[in-house]
Amino acid sequence: MTNHQPQKVALVTGAAKRVGAAIARRLHREGFAIAIHYRASKTDASALVESLNAIRAQSAAAFQADLLKTEMLGALVESVTARFGRIDVLVNNASTFYGGTLASVDETAWHELIGSNLKAPLFLSKACAPRLQASGGCIVNITDIHAERPMSNYVVYNVAKAGLRGLTHALACDLAPTIRVNAVAPGPIHWPDDDQIDATEKSRILEHVPLKREGGVDQIAEAVKYLVCDATYVTGQTINVDGGRSVAI
Ligand SMILES: NC(=O)c1ccc[n+]([C@@H]2O[C@H](COP(=O)([O-])OP(=O)(O)OC[C@H]3O[C@@H](n4cnc5c(N)ncnc54)[C@H](OP(=O)(O)O)[C@@H]3O)[C@@H](O)[C@H]2O)c1
Repeated sequence: MTNHQPQKVALVTGAAKRVGAAIARRLHREGFAIAIHYRASKTDASALVESLNAIRAQSAAAFQADLLKTEMLGALVESVTARFGRIDVLVNNASTFYGGTLASVDETAWHELIGSNLKAPLFLSKACAPRLQASGGCIVNITDIHAERPMSNYVVYNVAKAGLRGLTHALACDLAPTIRVNAVAPGPIHWPDDDQIDATEKSRILEHVPLKREGGVDQIAEAVKYLVCDATYVTGQTINVDGGRSVAI
């Protein structure tokens, strides 16, 4: 992007750390101003804003919101627009992730897992759509390879990501021809910070990955950059970034 063009703006949810932060840094390198959404990770979000603004002044800002509060999502989008003047890209990355069997599933799991992984992307897309229409922008949803082939004992999470995959298809049709909508489906990219996947389970998972290793967060960021910046004739598609896991037996 050259200096005389207005700075394009990407809103990345759950961007304070891990995959979201890598996406934010990658799009920033392409010249985007970044709206870094966070819920609880204020310190990480502030540090990321500071590091991006040190590279280009006024090119990043942080926005706090609990995405389960659907009534606040319009205000989040308005705050980003008030700060940067436009929105060109929405990356629905934020996610709550935990397991549960059919026997243990309850309303809380439904609320948190469907709320963060499916409902918030839907209502954020709705709130951003007029801005994306004006800018000819795009949406990238971060799904999961388990949207297609479910992971045992993660019933509601699997369903939420399958819904997000379906939302990607539906919005790609409904928002065309102006707004492209695609998805990136990670496999084992970066283990959760908590201990819900133990060492034995990690080894078992990697056994089924043809490339035999974790991908790393930058692999997702590269796929997002491709869909946002390069894939101008691509909509309604998902790129699996999974070391081959989705095609292995
Ligand atoms: N990591 C992997 O290997 C992997 C594999 C498959 C799919 N994915 C997908 O890739 C994306 C990024 O993965 P990740 O591991 O980096 O994610 P993560 O660390 O588990 O979560 C990303 C962020 O989501 C935010 N978040 C969660 N619930 C929220 C809510 N109710 N409201 C607002 N923000 C909320 C949190 O923000 P705060 O910290 O600010 O609270 C968190 O930092 C996710 O969509 C995930 O499902 C990742």
